Amino acid sequence: MKDTMDAAALDAEAERILRMNDRGGYSVPTAGLYPYQWNWDSAFAALGYAMFDLPRGWRELEVLMAGQWADGMVPHIQFHNVDPSYFPGPDIWGGVGPVPSSGISQPPIAATMARLIYELDPSAGAAPMRALYPKFIAWHRWFMDWRLDAGAACLTHPWEAGRDNAPDWDGPLARIEPVGIDPYERRDTGHVDPSMRPKKSDYDRYLWLVKQGHDCGWDQARLLEINPFRMADPTMHFTLLRAHRDLAWLGRELGLDTASLPDWIAQLEAGAETLWNAALGAYDVRDTASGAWAQAVSNAAFLCWYAGIDPKDSLATYARVQAPVRFGVASHDPESPAFEPKRYWRGPSWAMMNMLIAMGFDEAGLPEGAALRDSTARLIAENGFAEYFDPLTGAPAGGRDFTWTAAVWLAWCSPNVGRGRWAR
Ligand code: GLC
Repeated sequence: MKDTMDAAALDAEAERILRMNDRGGYSVPTAGLYPYQWNWDSAFAALGYAMFDLPRGWRELEVLMAGQWADGMVPHIQFHNVDPSYFPGPDIWGGVGPVPSSGISQPPIAATMARLIYELDPSAGAAPMRALYPKFIAWHRWFMDWRLDAGAACLTHPWEAGRDNAPDWDGPLARIEPVGIDPYERRDTGHVDPSMRPKKSDYDRYLWLVKQGHDCGWDQARLLEINPFRMADPTMHFTLLRAHRDLAWLGRELGLDTASLPDWIAQLEAGAETLWNAALGAYDVRDTASGAWAQAVSNAAFLCWYAGIDPKDSLATYARVQAPVRFGVASHDPESPAFEPKRYWRGPSWAMMNMLIAMGFDEAGLPEGAALRDSTARLIAENGFAEYFDPLTGAPAGGRDFTWTAAVWLAWCSPNVGRGRWAR
């Protein structure tokens, strides 16, 4: 950051992007590549909007939660307006909720963002938060009912983790024979350089997994029996645990029913132990079918502080993976043979993951939080509001004018807007 003039220009640009990606009550991650409402993108967007338009911030969360299914699940994509430039669309998913949608969820950060927005102005936040609260409880209950293995939160599709093509899933995906899927044409590679996107062999398996859910009408009891892909995952686990804690705080603050939360929190605190891979020195993905570790240090491993969980040796591992890169936190260990600095979740750095990781560092009183914020601010200032970045050079990659990068700039990086406003 050269000076605050630069910061003011970046603030204006971030606000422009958020307004441009506003589709009236909900935001898209970026025009073209992602033309619908994505779950965790929307939660980051809500915090971004709240920085200059508080009611719009609440509205984003209200629209997100209005897509909740009868069983409590909140889908990872809501197809408000069908756009043929995106694949796979609503017909392939066959979602069964009130809005055409996908059939899987995404890391539950919305309650955490709701708390941050509430804290900006508790008197304005009380009414929207009271209305949202039971919906968050029902969503979190759905995770506890359908996504737990030995107390660890699981996902049933790589897209559910939000870390689509991470090397963590390579072994388990390779065991899937993607038979019976109809011929299809990808659309993502028409928007973005294919070398930055998942490969066709991955895509076949993503679609095969979607078909399993589609064909049984997303019956979770049935999926538990037939879906071979069930990964206990630090992203899911740590975001859910953190969100439970924030929901409990909000419930106490507003005098609402928090009865289920202490037990859910205790279950996840105990379950975190089952994600600790001592040989790796990091929290890791565990395949619930085989018990095998992914043996992958991802950026999600460093959400342990954010979740308020004992980090064990994670700080030493963090120092190791940060050392070889200019702009961490790399989404995959830069010393691993699977590291690819431009391919999506196989190496690139993601500003919104950095914000969550740093929230945890700050709350633990560690200087790594401010250091990560400053390097992320520089990364965005020098390279723009890209979807993600090459950690070796900082080069922008994937989509541009990206909603969550703009939101993270305003809410966390900008010295004029969000920085320090909600840090505890
Ligand atoms: C990709 C990302 C996911 C994100 C979505 C929309 O699928 O992996 O995390 O939510 O794009 O930005």
